[in-house]
Amino acid sequence: MTNATETLLKLHNDPVLFVEAILKATPQKWQREALIAIRDNDKISIKSGHGVGKTAFQSWLILWWMLTHYPCKIAVTANTAHQLSDVLWSEVDKWFRKLPEGFKSQLEIKSDKISLKGASDSFCVARTSRRENPEALQGFHSENMLFICEEASGIPDVVFQVGEGALSTEGAKVVMCGNPTRSDGYFYEAFHSMRDRWFNMTVSCEEGDYVSDKFLEDMQSKYGEDSNIYRVRVLGEFPTQSDDVLLPLHLVESATKRDVEPSPTTPVVWGLDVARYGGDRSALAKRRGQELLEPIKTWSGKDLMELAGIILTEYEAVRYNDRPHAIYIDAIGIGAGLADRLKELDLPAISVAVSESASLKEKFTRLRDELFWLAREWFEGRDVKIPQDDALIQEITGIRYKYLSTGKLKIESKDEMKRRGQRSPDVADSFVLTFADQGALASGAMSRWNSRKMLKTNNAWIT
Ligand SMILES: Nc1ncnc2c1ncn2[C@@H]1O[C@H](COP(=O)(O)OP(=O)(O)OP(=O)(O)O)[C@@H](O)[C@H]1O
Ligand SMILES: [Mg+2]
Repeated sequence: MTNATETLLKLHNDPVLFVEAILKATPQKWQREALIAIRDNDKISIKSGHGVGKTAFQSWLILWWMLTHYPCKIAVTANTAHQLSDVLWSEVDKWFRKLPEGFKSQLEIKSDKISLKGASDSFCVARTSRRENPEALQGFHSENMLFICEEASGIPDVVFQVGEGALSTEGAKVVMCGNPTRSDGYFYEAFHSMRDRWFNMTVSCEEGDYVSDKFLEDMQSKYGEDSNIYRVRVLGEFPTQSDDVLLPLHLVESATKRDVEPSPTTPVVWGLDVARYGGDRSALAKRRGQELLEPIKTWSGKDLMELAGIILTEYEAVRYNDRPHAIYIDAIGIGAGLADRLKELDLPAISVAVSESASLKEKFTRLRDELFWLAREWFEGRDVKIPQDDALIQEITGIRYKYLSTGKLKIESKDEMKRRGQRSPDVADSFVLTFADQGALASGAMSRWNSRKMLKTNNAWIT
């Protein structure tokens, strides 16, 4: 290999190097992470507050891709022509001017197209996304395809629907950036129902080196830290969802980024939700006080005996001090039988009929409603930690609740969720079962599993 080919290969594999060595820029910490993420992932979505450097980052991507991938195509879209030409294109131009002559001379920049000179198969085009003209992302093919969606919250969903085939082409890279202005749509779903397919990042203005302190102060004094405007423009969080969402995303996500004091003496509790139908999963959650200890494990298609074997293995695999003092199992279906079998094996299993009445009967319809509410209060304490468990985050932030005419609170049932096209929240259900020894149960001296027999007779819903 010649030196030039070797250098090009290095730059091809290292966008950070390209930005630092060729553009002579110093990426901010989040920009560096995002550059590495786009190299290593196909789909990246970045939501942020204002002015953190998204447009600069996308401009770097365009230049890096154009100059180190051949042949290549880039389709850039935004909801307004202003955003594309006055904002993004002028930022690309700003960085283009910083290129060394040898690189600069390879590109030709026009108002809506950047071309690689002498190569008709390599170019970058900008197209406005409009509801009435939704083909912005459609019709592109290249072995090195990059899609960039600027201010993605504002791009109409139909553009993504029409472009879905192109976006999901094997190997095509897709980058969405934006201020998260609305709590629905494709960009929103990339952080929710499609989160397993996207590499997600959130950048608050506090992390942006180019955001002025004055902007932060103004936003704070004008709108207050609890306002949606502050959330969206400064924190880079979606506006708080409609009132019927049990757990807003920001509350749950922030628990993944927090450290809590370890409390080795706090007892561990497990929650086990057992599959009811063929498509459902059995899920096991392990919580010690303020911390969910590991991502929730799931199993499909297991019968009672197989599940008993799995739970026994899980139990024996943990150190004595980390063993649960209680394993709460939803009594529905084979749950009660499973609890009996685990008890025979001398495990602290307790079957709980979550569909029966709550301990606080005047407030909740059923125990399940109460458990979900306890989970909400747990997160609201803002002193809890969960691992980056996307399945749990997705399910628990998708659950809705309402107040009945009796004034009681009711959490949406599994069947209602399924009717809404949501997956059965098996993982979330196992998680909330870990709260079964709180509330009225706690007052029933529920702290030791050998008091189960007493509870069995005193509490109707412990079967
Ligand atoms: N690492 C960097 N080095 C030098 N300048 C930077 C860097 N990152 C961002 N900038 C500059 O900071 C300014 C704000 O960045 P940019 O416009 O990219 O932010 P943004 O997140 O797109 O803002 P908005 O939310 O308004 O769209 C721009 O002038 C940009 O060139
Ligand atoms: Mg911008």
